[in-house]
Amino acid sequence: MSFKPENATDRLILPLDVPDVEQARAIVEETKGVVGTYKVGMQLQFAGGLAFAEELAKEGHSVFLDVKLLDIDNTIASAVKNISTMGMRFVTLHAYPKTMRAAVAALKETGNKDLCLLGVTVLTSMDQRDLVDAGYKDQIPELVSNRTKDAAAAGMGGVVCSPMEASDVRNRFGEQLAIVTPGVRPTGSSVGDQKRIMTPQNAIQAGSDYLVIGRPILNAGDRRLAAQKIVEEIAAAL
Ligand code: C5P
Repeated sequence: MSFKPENATDRLILPLDVPDVEQARAIVEETKGVVGTYKVGMQLQFAGGLAFAEELAKEGHSVFLDVKLLDIDNTIASAVKNISTMGMRFVTLHAYPKTMRAAVAALKETGNKDLCLLGVTVLTSMDQRDLVDAGYKDQIPELVSNRTKDAAAAGMGGVVCSPMEASDVRNRFGEQLAIVTPGVRPTGSSVGDQKRIMTPQNAIQAGSDYLVIGRPILNAGDRRLAAQKIVEEIAAAL
């Protein structure tokens, strides 16, 4: 795996899911050193988050741009080329075979070897009923498995899946792909809209490389302490 985590702290990804850059900046200040990577997702992207993501990267932070790209191949290729200049460590796209192939080819052309392309398999807020509603006939594990196979074949850096699917991905693809798992909830914290969840300890033991944990940290009275406790739980599980 080219994108292996360095240590327990490096495995923790904190999504900056807040309304504006000022709040995001304050959270970075509060948690720096106890979080491996800051994730800039959809909410912040529509409030100056793209420039902020670049700024964080320039300051030396590891940054994850969660854009979940999906478009025609030409547009995907152009977008990936532009993103490759932003200093990001991770970027997401939906795990459609054509989309992933276009992204990998475009990234190769840029010569950037530090950007990890992650394929989003099935959102962790989806359960089987949601998939049926969306017109899919596959069972969740089967769909995750197929999309992971496609990600590996396309030459992606890793996949995003639920911790419940991590062990299957690890068993089938070994170290080839980095496994990034949202849907992680420390014992006693509220589940929110996540449906396929595990604790940090169980997620690590199942084979997750990186854990995306948002609301249990963001809503804590002491965010630094909350992140620290999670890193300790990760370290103990390794
Ligand atoms: O607050 P919480 O821990 O649920 O945050 C999870 C984060 O991971 C959110 O930013 C969400 O957009 C993101 N995510 C996810 N499931 C995926 C991909 C990304 O929850 N499959």
